[in-house]
Amino acid sequence: MKRILTAFAAGAALLMASAAGAETLSATGSLHADQPGPQISRYIYGQFSEHLGRGIYDGVWVGEDSKIPNVRGIRTDVVTALKAIHVPIIRWPGGCFADEYHWRDGIGPRDQRPVRKNNWWAGSDETNAFGTHEFMDFVGQVGADPYISINVGSSNPTEMREWIEYMTSSGDDTLAQERRKNGQDKPWKTPVIGFGNEAWGCGGEMTPEFYSNELRRYSGFYHRSADNPTIRVASGANSGDTHWTDVVMKNAAKQIDALSLHYYTLPTGKWDKKGASTGFDAQAWADTFAGTLKMDKLITDHSAVMDTYDPKKRVGLFVDEWGTWYDVEPGTNPGHLYQLNTLRDGVLAAVNFNIFHHHADRVRLTAIAQTINVLQAMILTEGDKIALTPTYYAYQMYVPFQDATELPLDITAPTFTQGDKTLPAFNASAARGKDGKVYIGLAGMDPKDAVSLTIDLGGLKVSKVSGQVMTADKMDAMNAIGQPATVKPVDFRGAKIAGGKLTITLPAKSVVVLALQ
Ligand code: AHR
Repeated sequence: MKRILTAFAAGAALLMASAAGAETLSATGSLHADQPGPQISRYIYGQFSEHLGRGIYDGVWVGEDSKIPNVRGIRTDVVTALKAIHVPIIRWPGGCFADEYHWRDGIGPRDQRPVRKNNWWAGSDETNAFGTHEFMDFVGQVGADPYISINVGSSNPTEMREWIEYMTSSGDDTLAQERRKNGQDKPWKTPVIGFGNEAWGCGGEMTPEFYSNELRRYSGFYHRSADNPTIRVASGANSGDTHWTDVVMKNAAKQIDALSLHYYTLPTGKWDKKGASTGFDAQAWADTFAGTLKMDKLITDHSAVMDTYDPKKRVGLFVDEWGTWYDVEPGTNPGHLYQLNTLRDGVLAAVNFNIFHHHADRVRLTAIAQTINVLQAMILTEGDKIALTPTYYAYQMYVPFQDATELPLDITAPTFTQGDKTLPAFNASAARGKDGKVYIGLAGMDPKDAVSLTIDLGGLKVSKVSGQVMTADKMDAMNAIGQPATVKPVDFRGAKIAGGKLTITLPAKSVVVLALQ
C-alpha cells in the first residue's frame, strides 16, 4: 500500500452551495488500519530554545529573586504549560549562538560568570546566568530530554570532550568533581548531541567537504557509553541543498546517527521582506501555506539522497529548525526575532505534523523554532503574563500522536485557488495511539470553504468518534497576552460513524483531531 498523505487534484472537488455564500467542498478517502506503518517518534514534537532575544531570558529564566513565580529561577507558568503538551526534547543553546558558546562561561557561581556579547543576535549582553545546570534543571522540570548543540564552528574537540565528561561522568575524575561542587551529584544523560549548527552558514561558512572532515574528527573524540547511547546529529542542509546531504552522507554516514535539516516558512519567500505575522490577507495566507507545503518535497528529496548511502534508513533526518519566520513586531529589536502568532500558525503547525508523520520512517526528531518569544513560539510573555499561542494548542491537540503507529490514509483532497496559488484544502494523517485508539489529524488550509469528507474505515471495528477543533472567524485571530485564550481547541461535533464510514465536516481554516474507538 502506498502511503499517500493527502494527494490533491483539482478535479476531485464537488461544490455544494451553502447559505453563507461560502461553499462546501467534498472529498473521499480510505483508512488502512490493517497495514500499520512506522512508529511516530515522540521526538517529532521537539522544541528549540536558543539564547536569542527574550527566548531564554524572560521566557524561561527570570532568576531566583524574581517576583514572577519560579522554581530555582525557572518560571513556573512556562514549565506548567510545556508539561501539558508533553514536550519530549528541547534543543539548546542554539542556533547560531551554539557555535560561539563556551560551556565554561555558564557554570559555577552566577555572579562570577562572564558577560559576553551575543554577536549573532543584536550584540545583546549574554550574562550566562542560564548555563548547563539551569538548562538541565529546565528540561527536568518540563519532563523533556536535552538535545545539546556542540560548538564546532569556533571551538575544538577537546572542549567538546570536556563538556560531555563534565555532564555525564559518574567517576571521580576532576570534571565530575567540579560538577558535584557546582551542585549536581548525579551525571546527566545526553541522549542527543548535535555537531555544530548550520555549518554552511553561521556555523563557520564551511564547505560540505570541510565540514564532513570536521564531523569525523569530532565524532571520533565523542565517547559514547553503554548507559548513555547518544544519537549523534550532523549539521545538515540549508533547505533544498541536496549536494550538502550527498557529500556529508558519502564522507561521514558511519560517524553519525542523524543529519539535520533547517527550513523556515516565509510568506513572501524573501528574507528582506518576509511578511507580517498579523493583518495579512488571503493571498499571504495562501503564499504561506504554499511555502510550508514544500517541507514534504524537501524531506523526500533529502531522504532519497540518504537512501543511496543508507537504504535501511539507520540515519535519521532531523528537521531541528522549522516554523514561520515573519518581519519582527514593529517597535521591537530587529535582532530579537519577536513575532506574534495567529490561527495561521496553528494550522501550519498541524500541516507540518501531518507531513512529518508521513515520513516517520526517516524523520524521527524535529524542533520547532522557537519555544518562547522567538519566531513560531508556543508561549509569548510580557512580565508575569503569558499567552499560549494557537501553535501551542496545535501541539496539545496532537499529543496522542507521540509514539503512535502511523496508519495509511489515502485521500484525494479538493483544492482552492487564491491568485497564482492552487493548494489542497487540507492535509491529514492517521495513527494508532498508545492507548489503542485510532487518531486522525486534519489541517484545514482553505480559508473560506468547509470540506465534507467521507473516509472508508476498511473494516476497522469502531463505533464512537470524538474530537476537538480549533478555528476562528478571522485568519489572524490570536490569543492576547494576559487574557483567557480564545483561539483554542473545543469539542468537535462535526463527525460521525455509520456503515463502516466516517463522515467529517472540516471547517475552513481549522485543525481537527479525532479519536475513534
Ligand atoms: O532560529 C533562528 C536562527 O535561524 C538560528 O540561530 C539559526 O540556526 C537559523 O538560521
